[in-house]
Amino acid sequence: MRIDIVTIFPEYFGVLDVSLLGRAREDGILEVAVHDLRDFTHDRHRTVDDKPYGGGAGMVMKPEPWGEALDAILDAAAAPKSAAPESTTEADAPAADTGPIVIFPSPAGEVFTQAMARELSHADHIVFGCGRYEGIDQRVFEYAGSRASVRLVSLGDYVLNGGEVAVMAMIEAIGRLIPGVIGNPESLVEESHEDGLLEYPSYTKPALWRDYEVPPVLTNGNHGAIATWRRAQQLERTRRVRPDLLPPA
Ligand code: ADE
Repeated sequence: MRIDIVTIFPEYFGVLDVSLLGRAREDGILEVAVHDLRDFTHDRHRTVDDKPYGGGAGMVMKPEPWGEALDAILDAAAAPKSAAPESTTEADAPAADTGPIVIFPSPAGEVFTQAMARELSHADHIVFGCGRYEGIDQRVFEYAGSRASVRLVSLGDYVLNGGEVAVMAMIEAIGRLIPGVIGNPESLVEESHEDGLLEYPSYTKPALWRDYEVPPVLTNGNHGAIATWRRAQQLERTRRVRPDLLPPA
């Protein structure tokens, strides 16, 4: 997967060099490029924002640098790749390109979920556009929509200072679902949200720690009883903490 990020704070994304995603980049599973929006300005002050038409508090990000940044990224993506060796059979033909998806993190967007992360983990190319201030000139979304499929995505019902932290969270949630990024893919199956419920509690040795005991059902080797207990724990926890996740009774 290729990921392009447009931001006025490229340094935010230094952490993508470390941990699982850093390794995925080294292994060539994930390719990430970070672009400074100010590199697409042409004035001495590298201006990216201006006062809102119609008045109001705060500043709005100007459309021109965004247009140039998106053009540079999407034109490069559309350019013919250097000659790949010809495939001889259907089986080794390259997978169909799904085309770029442009995501603007925004508290006004659809809410990011595990299902969305899984869907996006199949994309070939995602472009993240990080807004700051009071937002981005609306025409940028319309222009981006004329060139790619565009989504406004919110991390949740609260307001961040800009899209950078939201993009980090989305990249981590999407990236770990790309085949090869996590060593043991089975560990992805039993996590919170994968089956619509919160995950069950986990324990490891010692069986007794500071007067706290591991539930005996987990130590007696009865796999049917363990599965039943874990399912009941998932349901109880979800009912207590996130009843909104459960279908109406
Ligand atoms: N930018 C500001 N607040 C945000 C949120 N809740 N989700 C995504 N992007 C944001």
